[in-house]
Amino acid sequence: MRKPIIAGNWKMNKNPQETQAFLDGVKGKLPAADKVEAVIAAPAIDLNALVWFSKDSDLKVAAENCYFEDEGAFTGETSPKALSEMGVDYVVIGHSERRGYFHETDEDINKKAKAIFRNNMLPIICCGESLETREANKQSDWVVAQIKAALEGLTAEQVSNTVIAYEPIWAIGTGKTASADQAQEMCHVIRETVKDLYNEQTAENVRIQYGGSVKPANVKELMAKPDIDGGLVGGASMDPESFLALVNYQD
Ligand code: PGA
Repeated sequence: MRKPIIAGNWKMNKNPQETQAFLDGVKGKLPAADKVEAVIAAPAIDLNALVWFSKDSDLKVAAENCYFEDEGAFTGETSPKALSEMGVDYVVIGHSERRGYFHETDEDINKKAKAIFRNNMLPIICCGESLETREANKQSDWVVAQIKAALEGLTAEQVSNTVIAYEPIWAIGTGKTASADQAQEMCHVIRETVKDLYNEQTAENVRIQYGGSVKPANVKELMAKPDIDGGLVGGASMDPESFLALVNYQD
């Protein structure tokens, strides 16, 4: 059985004080880790507070990006080795904002995935099509190509432990959620792709999230779909009450 994984993605929001205030708000109210995995992906400057909190709580911590080299002369980048040593569990890679604004390529994302595994963390690999691609009905081809490129050279065991987030760009921050059926359809396409590339067991194990205007009001319907194992949530993850409603969606 795949364990549900709900991850907040704070993007470039919150300073360390605001992070602490959020943590004070969720303290003692997160679901047991064996029931639902609750994750916060935060800016690098906020990770320290999250990691300390995670040491005696059920919260898991994600960075929003990292570089693909462990260390060296790469001014301004974040080392995956340092993230791992600090106690970070996951790194989000390939978010559409990073692909779009910062020109990250499929090849960069694949190198980052390998760097994350090399440093004993797990990747949350994002994929998803633009409105234009969706209107041309090319979303499956687009996402399959992104997934093939991102997973290139990873072992079946690594992919079994990978989280893939399907996030149609037209649904991010727009209030326009993909319908639960549209989200399920694409998450199923992703699982079939993993099956073709690896095997049935790996496809059964890989966890697939939907992202794009997920909120407490729609999380249940999305999570009821057979191929949707979680959510990657931006706007609705910033407030403690809203995040708690998301991660405790089973209650
Ligand atoms: P949203 O963002 O929930 O605000 O649409 C999702 C994301 O970008 O991960």
